[in-house]
Amino acid sequence: MARGTGTSKAKTNTKGFWGKSEVFAFRVPRPYKNMEIISDIKAMQNRCLAARDSGQKISFVPTMGFLHEGHLSLLREGRKRGDLLILSIFVNPTQFGQGEDLDCYPRDFERDEAMARECGVDLLFYPEAEAIYPPGYATYVSVDGPLTTTLEGACRPTHFRGVTTVVTKLFNIVMPHVALFGRKDFQQLAVISRMTSDLNLPIDIVGMPIIREEDGLAMSSRNVYLCNSERKQALALNDTLRQTAEMAQNGESNAEKILTMAQGRLHAEADLEIDYVKICNAQSLEEVNTIDHESVILLAVSVGKTRLIDNGNLIS
Ligand code: PAF
Repeated sequence: MARGTGTSKAKTNTKGFWGKSEVFAFRVPRPYKNMEIISDIKAMQNRCLAARDSGQKISFVPTMGFLHEGHLSLLREGRKRGDLLILSIFVNPTQFGQGEDLDCYPRDFERDEAMARECGVDLLFYPEAEAIYPPGYATYVSVDGPLTTTLEGACRPTHFRGVTTVVTKLFNIVMPHVALFGRKDFQQLAVISRMTSDLNLPIDIVGMPIIREEDGLAMSSRNVYLCNSERKQALALNDTLRQTAEMAQNGESNAEKILTMAQGRLHAEADLEIDYVKICNAQSLEEVNTIDHESVILLAVSVGKTRLIDNGNLIS
């Protein structure tokens, strides 16, 4: 879809923090039913303020698009938790480091749009990068400390600053009552929860379970990069998590022993490169020596050129 074009115009008259204003939002043809698509930030804010003013509860699922069953599970839960379900699709440049896959990140707006409509999304926010980060943009939000410096933060030093900045901006635009995130990005969920609490944002952050393919691979937009042989090798991630959980359930509480087994299992796959395998406390993300009900195992590996992350509880 070309942004800002479509068959019909919707005129919204709203009032709120930004005063009374008249805004035009453009819609695309509607093959299914009732989903607005808005790219303009001011139009979006006015639409969301009007919804809040009329007493609607807004639930929000922020994404970078290329939707899969994991995203759809967030949308279905969001549908239950709010009156107005909002999805955003924005491939956020500030969370990609140099040499990462920003330029080739998978995109398919038409497909996403159809999936969103089928899931009952009311409003799709689809901004341009230049609108979110206009020339002269200079403000960033970052969460300090181990939550952002370990694990993904150690491998991708600017990543979380980009995530927390864009999520704050999206929260300010959408003004949701509830926002839903997947637990596959376990650390991202912890960082966003911390930020929301630290900044007293009046938003309920809901973490949703990992959705897996039938063979156990955690759903991710990046799975599309995997060729057949890499796809098979990638099964080692979930296999490793399953085996570590089995070890823990069978009474092993020594984190080092569990990690040694996990590394051995991952090393058994020739083309798999381990970034990290760590057992951490689920709240602080600090590494632990002895596992308990709060311990989570997190891993990041590259399969060929594709970097995958996964995680799991050790004692359920
Ligand atoms: O998880 C994602 O898709 C992204 O990190 C998010 C939360 C939409 C921010 O760009």
